[in-house]
Amino acid sequence: MNCLFVGAGAVAEQYAAELADSPLSLAGVCDTNAGRAEQLAASHDAAAFTALDDALAAVDAPVVVNLTSHSAHATVTRRSLAADRHVYSEKPLALDAETARDLLEMAAERDRALGCAPVAPRCPAQRLAGRAVADGRLGRVGLGYAYAHVGRVTEWHDSPAGFLSVGPLYDGSVYPLTVLVALFGPVERVRAADALDVWPARESATPDAPTHVEATLEFASGPVVRLTASFYAPHRSREFYGVELHGDDGSLRLRDAGALDADVDAVFFGRQGREYTPLPPQQPTRAGTYLDGVERLAAAVADGRRPCDTARRGAHVVAICGAIERAAADEGSASVADSDVTPARPARPVVRPRQNASGTAADSSTGSLRLPPIGFGCSRYRGGDEYVDRVDAIATALDAGYRLLDTAELYGNEHRIGDLLAAPGTPDRDALFLFGKVWNTNHGHVAEACAGSRAELGIEAFDCYALHWPDSWAYQGPLERLAERPVAEQEAVAFPEDETGEIETVDRSLAESWANLETIHERGWARTLGLCNVTREQVETVLSAGSVQPAVVQVERHPYRPRTELVEFCHERGIRVIAHSPLSAPGLLDEPVLEEIAAERGRSPAEVVLTWNATEGVVPIPSSNDETHVVANLAAAGDRLDAAARDRIATLEDPEFER
Ligand SMILES: NC(=O)c1ccc[n+]([C@@H]2O[C@H](COP(=O)([O-])OP(=O)(O)OC[C@H]3O[C@@H](n4cnc5c(N)ncnc54)[C@H](OP(=O)(O)O)[C@@H]3O)[C@@H](O)[C@H]2O)c1
Repeated sequence: MNCLFVGAGAVAEQYAAELADSPLSLAGVCDTNAGRAEQLAASHDAAAFTALDDALAAVDAPVVVNLTSHSAHATVTRRSLAADRHVYSEKPLALDAETARDLLEMAAERDRALGCAPVAPRCPAQRLAGRAVADGRLGRVGLGYAYAHVGRVTEWHDSPAGFLSVGPLYDGSVYPLTVLVALFGPVERVRAADALDVWPARESATPDAPTHVEATLEFASGPVVRLTASFYAPHRSREFYGVELHGDDGSLRLRDAGALDADVDAVFFGRQGREYTPLPPQQPTRAGTYLDGVERLAAAVADGRRPCDTARRGAHVVAICGAIERAAADEGSASVADSDVTPARPARPVVRPRQNASGTAADSSTGSLRLPPIGFGCSRYRGGDEYVDRVDAIATALDAGYRLLDTAELYGNEHRIGDLLAAPGTPDRDALFLFGKVWNTNHGHVAEACAGSRAELGIEAFDCYALHWPDSWAYQGPLERLAERPVAEQEAVAFPEDETGEIETVDRSLAESWANLETIHERGWARTLGLCNVTREQVETVLSAGSVQPAVVQVERHPYRPRTELVEFCHERGIRVIAHSPLSAPGLLDEPVLEEIAAERGRSPAEVVLTWNATEGVVPIPSSNDETHVVANLAAAGDRLDAAARDRIATLEDPEFER
């Protein structure tokens, strides 16, 4: 779709740089500075104009992109709407609430779409933060801090006049305000505000508006947020464009409310009583672009729709700024009176609460279980004479965003995980996927074992309950609270020996053990059933003998042992594969091939192995006690490898591999 850029300054260059990868084409450029208009137009084979009316008359472009300086936005938008163009405006939409409302009314009367920057609420970091809030990780959000430390615009912008005429309130604060309104809906009242002029005397250009503004905002949905917008506080300020939200159960920090992409340290979450943990994206994300908003508006127009939602939000942000100015001038509070343009709640919330995130829904394309891309291995490990329960690392994993926990009665720490699941700040039960396993000594007592595990974890049902191994061993009584018994006793009951020192097995077929497991499904104690450490032939046995199909097969899988045939067999039958022990094969993380691929991608060999699993649709469940590893492993699941890298990794297969 053709568009006309009005304004050819620095931000127009940024929009224009993205045109090459966009379905939009630039048909005309208009700027009162002829040289600037011609330069930008020439590089895109577009026509140049200095007068808006001439451009509107001459250019066949349904969409006007308003990239003028702040104070010209409303005028250009009004004239473009009057010429029956759809308009996407840089922020702010206008400099007062009444004008913004008039523009919305005009768009509605003329059946035009009206959009407004910034695109921030739909960018990946802001969506991650929004997801954590929508999923209730923070509990009730009582308090927040939002910053827009725009810095000395005279230092970093080649034409700072537009900024100096409006001040930081109508410039930088629009980023956190837009994100906050997208998260919490409208601001009802400015409780208090103050405006200072702290601009350095040595600066030759002088601002027309206060250079530092503080305000306390009350959202209709509850949160109270203190906003600071400043031309005095520089970019190096620790807060920059940060937003920090504090809830009853936890806190969240969004490093940069205006960021287009999501680095590993873009969002942090800390439950009550714990430090912040980075919350990396765990699915492939695409960084936002300046043109995103225009492209969405153009696509809607092509579809016959006339969206005004971002402009409506932009109008509300302008109304908040106006109320802050009034409150600062009157040294009192001010209501934000634009209820006729802003819906009581965002009409289309940017991030909806996750529904049925436990993954038990089937993926409609494959019929297989929808699982998080990575899980956390919760097995204990032997540290000296004792086992370490790993509960601190599991809490870190939950804070970072892991949603699949691999548990087992053998691990002996179910009651400690249960305490964690019940603690404030842990995701709700239905946002988690809990994988449990019955130990080899309990194949004849599956109901007793599962009841014990459910009670220790404090859950009604597992998302998947599996045979830990296909082999049946002699019953040793319940394994409850294994971790609380002396280590020698734990090992004696978990690995029973006969008089010759061999494992004491019992004569029970896999089909019989599976039939016992099916009773768990019938009782509703497990939504799905699974198998661990099985061969393809054993999966076939269960498929033909059982009446419930296994939903998950968990096996040791890494580049030495890719289990390609088994994985393909399972995937063809809609069975998901989980890779246990993905990182700990001796020597694996020192493999030159993995080191090379890791160096090329700026990741570690361990992360490459996890990305390799995620790329092949297999869910790895690494364990780690190191917070950096816990976070990096999660982020690795959001990456993908190309075919060439996968071919190089395929050369590591070792048919002789044995632990
Ligand atoms: N079904 C079964 O029979 C079965 C059998 C075995 C395991 N499992 C499951 O699989 C889970 C994982 O297996 P696992 O614990 O044996 O081993 P693993 O996950 O393959 O490896 C864990 C080791 O890798 C290290 N590590 C983790 N992330 C790393 C990174 N980014 N860079 C470098 N090193 C990293 C850890 O050290 P740091 O602590 O220093 O990070 C730890 O030493 C278990 O917890 C369990 O839930 C299931």
